[in-house]
This record gives sequence, C-alpha cells and structure tokens, in this order.
Amino acid sequence: MQQIAVIGSGTMGNGIAHVFAQNGYTVHLIDIRKEALDKALATIAKNMDRQVAKGSLTEAQKLESLSRINPFTSLAEGVKSADLVVEAATEQVDIKLQLFRELDMHAPAHCILATNTSSISITKIAGVTGRQDRVVGMHFMNPVPVMKLVEVIAGFNTSADVTSAVIQLSRNIGKVPALANDYPGFIANRILMPMINEAISSLYEGVAGVEEIDTIMKLGMAHPMGPLQLADFIGLDVCKAILEVLHDGFGNPKYAPCPLLVNMVAAGNLGVKSGKGFYDYSHGGKELVVASNFK
Ligand code: CAA
Repeated sequence: MQQIAVIGSGTMGNGIAHVFAQNGYTVHLIDIRKEALDKALATIAKNMDRQVAKGSLTEAQKLESLSRINPFTSLAEGVKSADLVVEAATEQVDIKLQLFRELDMHAPAHCILATNTSSISITKIAGVTGRQDRVVGMHFMNPVPVMKLVEVIAGFNTSADVTSAVIQLSRNIGKVPALANDYPGFIANRILMPMINEAISSLYEGVAGVEEIDTIMKLGMAHPMGPLQLADFIGLDVCKAILEVLHDGFGNPKYAPCPLLVNMVAAGNLGVKSGKGFYDYSHGGKELVVASNFK
C-alpha cells in the first residue's frame, strides 16, 4: 500500500493525513471545500512545527512530509488510484452511506475502504458497497499525531486479509492497533461514553462539582484529562450522539444520555468548539475555568 486517500479535512482528517505523510505515504486529502483544505494544510504544518521544536522531526522531514500531501476537491479524482481510503467526514450516517456508494464507484477494485467512524456500524456502511469484504473500521483517537491507538473494527463480512493488512499498516505508521468486532460503540466508546455519562450524572445529582469530579479521575486514576474536560474536548454533541447509538443498539436504558448532557447540547454549550461546556474556553488560555453554569 502506498497511496492513501483521506476524505474530510477536519480535525480527524488532517491528523490522519499528517501521520500517513510523516511515515512516507503519498496522501490525497479530499474535501469539497477548498478553504477547508487550505486550513487543514496550515494546521498540519503547525502541528509538525511542534514536533520540529521538540526534536522528533527535522525541518527537512517536515517539508518532505508536507510535499507528500496533495489536496483534491473532487472525490473521483482523489481516490482513482488509491490503495486505501480513510473516510473521516461528518459523523452522519446518511452522509457516510452516500460517500461509500461513491467510493465504491470510483476507487480501484483492490482498494480497501476504511472509515474513521466513532460508532456507526461498519457492517451497515459496507452494505451499500459491492465490496463488503474490503470495508473496515480504522478508528483513530484525537489528537491523531499524539495518540498511539488505532481501533481496527472488522465488519460482519470484512475479510481476514483486509483486517490483517490494516493492522500491519497501523503498525507501519507508528500506531498500536487493537481489533474489535462490529457492535455498537465497538470497544473505545462502549467503555468511554458510559464513564463520561456517569461523570455528568454525578454532577447533575450534586454528588460533586466539575473540578472535584475531574480531579478525582485525573489524580486517582491517572487519566490525562478528567471525564468532563474530555467530554468538552470530544464535543458534547458527539458524546450525546454516541450514547444514542449505544442506547438504540443495545436497547438498554443504562446508555441513555444524562438529562444535563441533553440540555447542554440543546443550549449549544458543546465544549471547546463552541467556547463553553463544563469549562469556559472564551479566555483562550490553557488554564481551566469552570463554566458559570456550574459555579
Ligand atoms: N499534533 C502534534 N502534537 C501535538 C498535538 C497535535 N495536534 N496536540 C498536542 N501535541 C503534543 C504537544 O506538542 C506535546 O508534546 P510534548 O509533550 O512532547 O512536548 C504533547 O502533545 C502534549 O501536549 P500539550 O503539552 O499541549 O498538552 P497536554 O500535556 O495537556 O496534552 C493531550 C494534551 C495529548 C490532548 C492530553 O491531554 C491527552 O492525552 N488527553 C486525552 C486525549 C484523549 O483521551 N483522546 C481520545 C479522545 S476520544 C476519541 O478521540 C475518539 C472518539 O471516538 C470520541
């Protein structure tokens, strides 16, 4: 595998393009919006600068890596000679199904079609293609250049050869792959989201405040971020959507999103991306300030 097409140039897409390019692969980064591509390339350059500053990448390696990333606004053009596509578009099932129909038409027959979905069924996505055996989940974690894990998800009809190839490829780009079967939330979000939901329920029920909950999990369990800060980082709308996938998929009320989470999403308090969630990010600094709603 040499040529990788990445669909979507948002946070996950640009991180995935970054890591493949840094490890010697030719990357076709595809987005319908030219401005989004320009922004993604600037973000990748900035994130590579951090690596140069701390000596894990040389300036020459940075320039070489950046030169391997080719932007495309046409999906058909971008994937026509790809060996692997990693789809990292918006996390909406209808958009993903339509994208996979198009990918199946335009990508070469040998090409593996991977999705970075955090919770949509791989089997359902594969079902709209004529190559269910070559569709697989490749779930990267944010921030992609830093986080070591790739959760590889085998759909119901994914072939063992394809799963093995994606596991090997993940190792080639310096990641540690872990294999899961295709059931709601796979492993990462099946375990992470109930923890986040329980943290929000603890706040909702008045068991403890925002800082106390996060401090207990950070210092008591050695998590780099407390669950409420992590929920803000992931996006509260994303957390709610994943909990709904778990709730619908298992039909078990234990996965129902906490009413406080539902309210915050309805109010547009989505975390870092909206400037306010459990914490307030409007001051722009690194310091954590509890949002006025929880003081
Ligand atoms: N690109 C490159 N390097 C980056 C980076 C990026 N986008 N973001 C951070 N870094 C690097 C920094 O340069 C720094 O490097 P050094 O330590 O070598 O100097 C290092 O990462 C740490 O960054 P910071 O000092 O800025 O900040 P920090 O120490 O607070 O760490 C963090 C930031 C890595 C995000 C850390 O807080 C962390 O690991 N948080 C948890 C992240 C997590 O759980 N991610 C998974 C979310 S769930 C998901 O993604 C999947 C899903 O389906 C919901």
